Amino acid sequence: KEQTYIMVKPDGVQRGLVGEILSRFEKRGFKLVALKLATPSKEHLEKHYADLSDKAFFPGLIQYMLSGPVVAMVWEGLDAVKTGRVMLGATNPLASAPGTIRGDYALAVGRNICHGSDSVESANKEIGLWFPEGFAQYTLLQETMIFE
Ligand code: GTP
Ligand code: MG
Repeated sequence: KEQTYIMVKPDGVQRGLVGEILSRFEKRGFKLVALKLATPSKEHLEKHYADLSDKAFFPGLIQYMLSGPVVAMVWEGLDAVKTGRVMLGATNPLASAPGTIRGDYALAVGRNICHGSDSVESANKEIGLWFPEGFAQYTLLQETMIFE
């Protein structure tokens, strides 16, 4: 099954949205395979957002991501990468549909609460970067009620 890297950003942690975001992924039927509260270094965040290093907002983005702990997680399930992105909503919360995490809880692109991998390739890269220690595999007992 496909896996995606989802992260609650510092504003999401400060605003008490960790439980809400976890709950949405749990209820949707995804399997939680890795989870931790982390305080990443500047170097680590620059690697995570390496593709954006030439953008004008990059220094501000790194500063924002360094402003507090983040919650890093890996969710597994059907079309996890694409579905995860749909659940987060558009990058700019002003354009995120109501019912999405950003569309329900955020207003500004520079404070958009959460991150989700944008492709299977990015997901594999991000999972390796954030969880080099790996994680346990287990069977989700309700799986036959979620997948055909
Ligand atoms: P992530 O899931 O965080 O990777 O967001 P995304 O994939 O929807 O967008 P992208 O990877 O292009 O940008 C990464 C993050 O940079 C966004 O989530 C925003 O927090 C921030 N960002 C993107 N565009 C802008 C912008 O125009 N201005 C500011 N201030 N921040 C931006
Ligand atoms: Mg992105």
